[in-house]
Amino acid sequence: MKVLGIDTSCDDTCVAVVEERKILSNEISSQISLHSKFGGVVPDLARKAHKENIDFVLKKALEKARVKMEEVDLIAVTQGPGLSIALGVGIDKAKELAIKFEKKVVGVNHIEAHLLSPWLQNSRGKPERTIPLPALALTVSGGHSSLVVIEEIGKYKVIGESVDDAAGEALDKAAKMLGLGYPGGPILEQLAKTGKKDFLTLPIPMAKDKSYNFSFSGLKTSFYYQIKDWSEEEKGRQLANLASSFQAKVMETLLYKLERAVVEFRPKSLIGTGGVMANQYLRKQLRRRGKDLGLKVYLPYTKKLNTDNAAMIAFAGLQMYKRGITGEDWQKIEREPRMKLI
Ligand code: KG4
Ligand code: ZN
Repeated sequence: MKVLGIDTSCDDTCVAVVEERKILSNEISSQISLHSKFGGVVPDLARKAHKENIDFVLKKALEKARVKMEEVDLIAVTQGPGLSIALGVGIDKAKELAIKFEKKVVGVNHIEAHLLSPWLQNSRGKPERTIPLPALALTVSGGHSSLVVIEEIGKYKVIGESVDDAAGEALDKAAKMLGLGYPGGPILEQLAKTGKKDFLTLPIPMAKDKSYNFSFSGLKTSFYYQIKDWSEEEKGRQLANLASSFQAKVMETLLYKLERAVVEFRPKSLIGTGGVMANQYLRKQLRRRGKDLGLKVYLPYTKKLNTDNAAMIAFAGLQMYKRGITGEDWQKIEREPRMKLI
């Protein structure tokens, strides 16, 4: 089955074509330059840019996949969570295509799509992996951080979530405090490469808390107070050390909870997804922990599948179809900015 995926949940306009697990095309029009001067995503600008770009991105995705709209078997569109007015652009486009080409549409949960991204393959069907289930998945991005037990595709148990900022959001805010650009995660990662991670003494948030939830606001506050009286010159001199200290603590928090969850839930494998998983430090540490725990770690086969993309939406939509959600009643699909996984 050929599935067209559409994602306009945040600041990227994404359209892709997927056939079973194979990605035939995965087009992204990034709005980073548009939002970076504001230090974060401006919803109204995002909606406008999605509207301007979506037809072009759709055309490119179909052309690259060498698939005509008539040959698409199903449309999958992100229903939530995400920025409300941005989500609306993708949903409207999916409905417009459904009418014009008589297609069915399924509304996909963006977090489920991130979770399933390690199952995706390139157009030649590589990698041919079978992920042992149940898997424990750490999914971390700008909008969400969660620990999820994937019992099977479509059957999830959310065991932990961020009670305040998502991990990516915390990184973005720390970068902003240092006067760096947006998104902050990749900028901090670059700087952190030459810094000392123990330069600042920062807490591991919620270390004593028995749940698997995360919290990053205390860490952010501690970081803020430690540097608030510093001169700009001093901050500038210590940028690498500051980036490294903050980044390491965010990642250690995630890994600490993950390791504890392994003891209780005894998964057969580990999965890492979401934008923050593009981070080299986190990937390396996750692989190291996996090795120590005797568990294989599965990350999406390319870094492009960590950050927002529509291939994961198409794949998640296909899985819904296989579960019997066939998309006949697509007229009822409405945006759900706070959509939950379960
Ligand atoms: O998954 P994603 O593209 O969008 C959401 O669904 O939120 O994730 C975006 C987040 C941003 O907070 C960004 O700073 C972070 O992922 N991010 C990274 C890296 N690349 C993106 N964080 C740390 N290191 C990176 N290399
Ligand atoms: Zn995302």
